[in-house]
Amino acid sequence: MTVRSMILISNDPESRIRGSEKLFSEFQQQLAHYDLADEVSLTLATDLGSSYASPLVIVYPEAVIYGPITVADVPYIVKEHLYKGRIVDEKRAPVHELSGKVAWLSAREGTLPAENRVVLKNVGVIDAEDIEDYIANEGYQALGMALEMSPDELIDLIKASGLLGRGGAGFPAGLKWSFVKNTDSDKKYVICNADESEPGTFKDRVVLEGDPHAILEAMLISAYAVGADEGYIYIRGEYQLAIERMETAIQQAEQYGFLGENIFGSELSFKVHVHAGAGAYICGEETALIESIEGKRGEPRNRPPYPTTFGLWGKPTLINNVETFANIPPIIRNGSDWYRSLGTASSPGTKVYTILGNVNVTELIEVPMGITLREVITIYAKGMKSGSFKMAQTGGSSGSIIPASLQDTPMDFDSYNKTGVSLGS
Ligand SMILES: Cc1cc2nc3c(=O)[nH]c(=O)nc-3n(C[C@H](O)[C@H](O)[C@H](O)COP(=O)(O)O)c2cc1C
Repeated sequence: MTVRSMILISNDPESRIRGSEKLFSEFQQQLAHYDLADEVSLTLATDLGSSYASPLVIVYPEAVIYGPITVADVPYIVKEHLYKGRIVDEKRAPVHELSGKVAWLSAREGTLPAENRVVLKNVGVIDAEDIEDYIANEGYQALGMALEMSPDELIDLIKASGLLGRGGAGFPAGLKWSFVKNTDSDKKYVICNADESEPGTFKDRVVLEGDPHAILEAMLISAYAVGADEGYIYIRGEYQLAIERMETAIQQAEQYGFLGENIFGSELSFKVHVHAGAGAYICGEETALIESIEGKRGEPRNRPPYPTTFGLWGKPTLINNVETFANIPPIIRNGSDWYRSLGTASSPGTKVYTILGNVNVTELIEVPMGITLREVITIYAKGMKSGSFKMAQTGGSSGSIIPASLQDTPMDFDSYNKTGVSLGS
């Protein structure tokens, strides 16, 4: 029988605490009860939206978002929506109260202004544990396109996009790639920095949990560009779900021939390892991270030499942050002009922000570079919970204190640097 509807249940750590797995079983039972099990597919997805409305349930093809949903709501939703075909309006997630992924989802129906979802394009809307879902959503297309270019053309494209590293320092990604490419060596490595130990930051976790193949695809593309054949994804040890999903993604990519020898019949061969972080904040610093992978105490090395020439096991190594990598496949698919149409001239693209603190809505958003802190607080965080805005801190302990006087400064690397503060992570 053909599947006519698809249900996604958010299954990020917060939704799990709120019973998403029980929801899954209840949906299974109710679908069986109405003899719909063959017609309706049921999937645990990742973080679908703002945490205060989770667990969320999305029903396709209508793309209706219900939330927060309890086990007691399930029989009614199955009976009304899946059995009778009537949308249960009173259980819909309060879309106008939500931003983030929910706003983006609704924007596809033309009901709300769109957020520019680039990094989080697939997060929450595909099954992160199913490579077919990724492939059906343009997955591994960029790898095919990249392999048709020369490594230099590819690096020129990344340079032209203006992509700046999202790990905190904002270093130009294409330039870093060219340093590794131009260092002669019999062996090179690519590392994805997924340590994310900044207190209060969880932007990378959501990408790893929700779209692990995007990171693998980006690492493959970068490996081809710089001439590497082996990679490591160094994931914060506490991110158990991210580690599991990444390991699943690697197994699937190997089965499908996206990882291994002579990928797509090309000269690219690549294998990748997941390395669980050692639980120290400093291991997010790239040279301490390298020491940690090498089995030593995670302490930074003196630089220079930089990892681009003397990295893992002394070999040239490309290290980029998760969010930096997540930008790569869309840049290749859509081109550098498209990328530059987002954000500001000096900081193109979008930025994923974690919003925490004394505001009405705490969540994860993806917005164009150059939005102001005042806009983040009033539009996305729905204002201060109490009192007036005094200060924000960007990016955990290595970020800056942003006083109220800088609320209208565009949030991009250049504007923040000019005022002496840092965008951080
Ligand atoms: C103390 C310290 C902690 C850091 N922690 C992280 C981290 O958790 N994740 C990350 O991507 N970069 C972190 N960085 C930055 C990395 O050293 C490195 O610049 C980054 O991974 C490069 O990636 P990018 O060019 O894509 O930004 C940290 C830097 C310092 C000094």
